Amino acid sequence: MLYHASCIEGAKQYLENDSVDLLIADPPYNLQFGGTTQTKDKKPRFDVFPNDRLSPQAYQRFCMQWIYQAYRILKPGRHAYVFIDWRTYPDMVRWLRLAGFIIKNCIVWDKAVMGMGWQYRYQHELIIFAVKGEKRVRKVSSRRHSDVWRIPRIPGNRTAHPTEKPIELLKQIIELSSEAGEYVVDFFSGSGVAPVAAIELNRNWTAFELDEKWFEFSSNRINKTDTAILGD
Ligand SMILES: C[S@@+](CC[C@H](N)C(=O)[O-])C[C@H]1O[C@@H](n2cnc3c(N)ncnc32)[C@H](O)[C@@H]1O
Repeated sequence: MLYHASCIEGAKQYLENDSVDLLIADPPYNLQFGGTTQTKDKKPRFDVFPNDRLSPQAYQRFCMQWIYQAYRILKPGRHAYVFIDWRTYPDMVRWLRLAGFIIKNCIVWDKAVMGMGWQYRYQHELIIFAVKGEKRVRKVSSRRHSDVWRIPRIPGNRTAHPTEKPIELLKQIIELSSEAGEYVVDFFSGSGVAPVAAIELNRNWTAFELDEKWFEFSSNRINKTDTAILGD
């Protein structure tokens, strides 16, 4: 189920303590990112989405609120994947620990193709791999993966959403940290890529998207996937 709501209020309203098998969060990085500016008029392709242009204090407050909800709803011993870039990584790790998460690793998503960037051009993002509690921690499903994942990004001029992630990336997370039939929650749906990956992998899922435009976009993408799977 996709809710047109903030994940903070939505989790409070709809999700119980210790009920979720896998938590995925690809939050706003507070970088006011509107997509590539490699357009004819040199303007970003998209408007800035909610919570991506906050003061440092407001951003910390926002993050602490969703992180506390993430921790509350996750089952003990289960995994959370939190996307972030190098600028906010130290703060995000600190905030996750404050809420109680134990940080187990940091996955480097190597996007295979470089993007824009000042001096050195950007080719990676970070995914914090955290668990709730230290007892009976679930192991990832395969020992064949290192903590560097080379998965090509979607070219900047072809993304439907300014920070759209490739579906292979979300599928890898879901396959490595959950089983068919388990319950996956995505706090920041964006283009709907995590729900679509969850549907294709036979997981139960809930997702939230605050922005009306991206909620509509996600809903359409999810409906198409659901219809395609029902028609198989
Ligand atoms: C980094 S993007 C997620 C991109 C997504 N993973 C994808 O691949 O398309 C963050 C999204 O969170 C949404 N958002 C911002 N604040 C939110 C909140 N409090 N609750 C739910 N969604 C929120 C934004 O509108 C934006 O679409």
